Amino acid sequence: MSEESGDGDVVRRERFGGGPARGFLSSMSSDERIFEADLATDRAHVVMLTEQGIVPEDEAGGILAALDEVEAAGHDALPNGEDVHAAIETAVIDAIGPVGGKMHTARSRNDEVATCIRYRLREDVLDVVEAALAFREALVETAGEHTETLMPGYTHLQPAQPTTVAHWLCSYEGAVARDTERLLDAYGRINRCPLGAAAFAGTPFDIDRERTAELLGFESVIENSMDASSTRDFLLETVSALATLATTLSGTAEDLILFANKGYVELSDDYASTSSIMPQKKNPDTLELVRATAGDASSGLSGLLTTLKGLPRAYNRDLQRATPHAWKTIDAVREATDVAAGAVATADWDEGALKEAADEGFSTATGVADALAMGGLPFRTAHELVAHASESGSDYTALDAASEEVLGEPLEEHVPREVVESALDPAESVASRDSWGGPAPEAVEETLSAAREAVDADKAAIEGRTEALDGAATALDEEVRSYE
Ligand code: ARG
Repeated sequence: MSEESGDGDVVRRERFGGGPARGFLSSMSSDERIFEADLATDRAHVVMLTEQGIVPEDEAGGILAALDEVEAAGHDALPNGEDVHAAIETAVIDAIGPVGGKMHTARSRNDEVATCIRYRLREDVLDVVEAALAFREALVETAGEHTETLMPGYTHLQPAQPTTVAHWLCSYEGAVARDTERLLDAYGRINRCPLGAAAFAGTPFDIDRERTAELLGFESVIENSMDASSTRDFLLETVSALATLATTLSGTAEDLILFANKGYVELSDDYASTSSIMPQKKNPDTLELVRATAGDASSGLSGLLTTLKGLPRAYNRDLQRATPHAWKTIDAVREATDVAAGAVATADWDEGALKEAADEGFSTATGVADALAMGGLPFRTAHELVAHASESGSDYTALDAASEEVLGEPLEEHVPREVVESALDPAESVASRDSWGGPAPEAVEETLSAAREAVDADKAAIEGRTEALDGAATALDEEVRSYE
């Protein structure tokens, strides 16, 4: 066939062979990502067709051998085609003749592409979860070294109460743990097989949908064939979970940028950049890029939502433009997660600067009010007394004077002086806040051991899923080899 006649694409044939929109219609370049997934899907389908007596074994052997050749030659060697599915089928037919066309019995590109996206996405989601786990490990390990490292805690970006670096790190670990949970949860719904739905309306052939699902390592089948071929809800929930993770990352990055600005933390040179004009500068560029990745993820999510909204049943070509939103988001968020993990693992905390800052701005005021309330004063009265004192100072003298004004008697009448002095000390103040999940070193130790356990459990979850995928791939390969 000539250039103008569709380059031999078996789907488009002569009639739809060319035209100015040929490139616009094609998803060949973004389909590179599902090249291997499509080969696996083809193989599983052919094996099932043979087991069901739909395609004779010798013909299946020819098709499977041709698929091996296509795989060895790689995606770049594929003939031109509207998409990877058409191109692989064309290559098979080019290699073994019209009998290769039996591969597309009892299926459509619609169920085929939906299967390929899910097949590939499983691997990608496990990779992101692995990156999130590495980030959690970096947070937990660093926290283990800083359970006693004081730092100012903020609300409204104003110094609020002293806390510790470990407590701050654990606050993000908890968030990333939930992000991990959401991704693993989405994984369960990605891992369902649409193959066999055909265009949307099923097939008269006696296919075995459970068998192809099993051969491809899917946990179950998406039943309704119209739903199976058209839904992309699994992309939406995955990208939504990724956008949530990216939002968590952006907060971590923003905090670190602020802390670097205040001199509390120094990033390793590997995670910093400099200025082309100001030679003294060390800039937290990597973290700024991590912060900005929330924008990529958000655009991926809104791209998907807008593309999918209002699509009629069943298959529409809009779906072809939905998929790349997911790939781009997953790549961006995964990379940002890796960078955030590295930046946290290698950062250097300035304990002296942090301790000094933790004491600034009467940060122990709440702790003093708590101490007075623990001595029997109503909390509101204690709050008022400390607020009064804070107008003139942040030491015992100021508090005692405020007591005379608010209560009409010395502070010692209510609380022993050493209790107040201790509440004024940032380290004592932190140590006293030992409620569950609080910043006291022993409370954080508890948080840390639970976090370590959760990380191990999630690692095991990933390993289990990876083994299931690898096991299915090996079993499929063995099945295919039996046709040689
Ligand atoms: N490449 C398409 C996609 O990604 C699949 C092709 C289905 N084409 C069709 N005309 N029904 O969705």
